[in-house]
Amino acid sequence: MTRKNIAQQVEFPLNRAFTFVESGPVLLISTHHNGKSNLMTVSCHASMGFEPTLGICLGPWNFSYAALTETGECVVAIPPANLMAHVVDIGNCSGETTDKFPEFGLTPQPAVDVKAPLVAECLYNLECRVVNRSLVNEYNFFVLRGVRAWHNPAPTDARSFHAVGDGTFIIDGEVVNLRRKMTKWQDCI
Ligand SMILES: Cc1cc2nc3c(=O)[nH]c(=O)nc-3n(C[C@H](O)[C@H](O)[C@H](O)COP(=O)(O)O)c2cc1C
Repeated sequence: MTRKNIAQQVEFPLNRAFTFVESGPVLLISTHHNGKSNLMTVSCHASMGFEPTLGICLGPWNFSYAALTETGECVVAIPPANLMAHVVDIGNCSGETTDKFPEFGLTPQPAVDVKAPLVAECLYNLECRVVNRSLVNEYNFFVLRGVRAWHNPAPTDARSFHAVGDGTFIIDGEVVNLRRKMTKWQDCI
């Protein structure tokens, strides 16, 4: 097979490579600690299995860090695209000085298995417990296990959004259904 007009790959700055592998969707992490609920924005995370298990990178400079390390629980919420500007603002202020639920017009709802609240406006909420901290010191990487999941049946916007990592975002677009080709994985879909 002859290939024509194939552009040569151009080296990309290694310290920017996270921008093309950064996973999505952007998450809100809800915590409850010392009588106070808080939210932070997280885009560095990884799906680790169908349990569901996921890893989040949450640095010690965040107010939420003490809440997560000391309570060992949180809610992972998936915000809709029409809350994008608020989600960015939530990731640019601290729970130490800002009461983020009322400040950003978000509604805390009681969870069942953890003290951190669900975020009513979000598309999904996953109550989680920290199940592994072995990579926290080196990578700020907490492994979470979902214990109960929630879905918003009437969202104002059903699209989630993804962070590129440089202050730009990608809103979910077309959904392509290839379930008929998932012959080996019928039990999973
Ligand atoms: C789009 C976006 C993505 C972010 N992703 C992360 C992340 O993956 N890990 C992290 O530790 N902080 C991340 N941050 C920063 C925190 O959300 C930010 O430090 C926030 O103010 C922490 O809130 P807190 O101090 O109330 O916990 C992100 C911020 C934005 C705007």
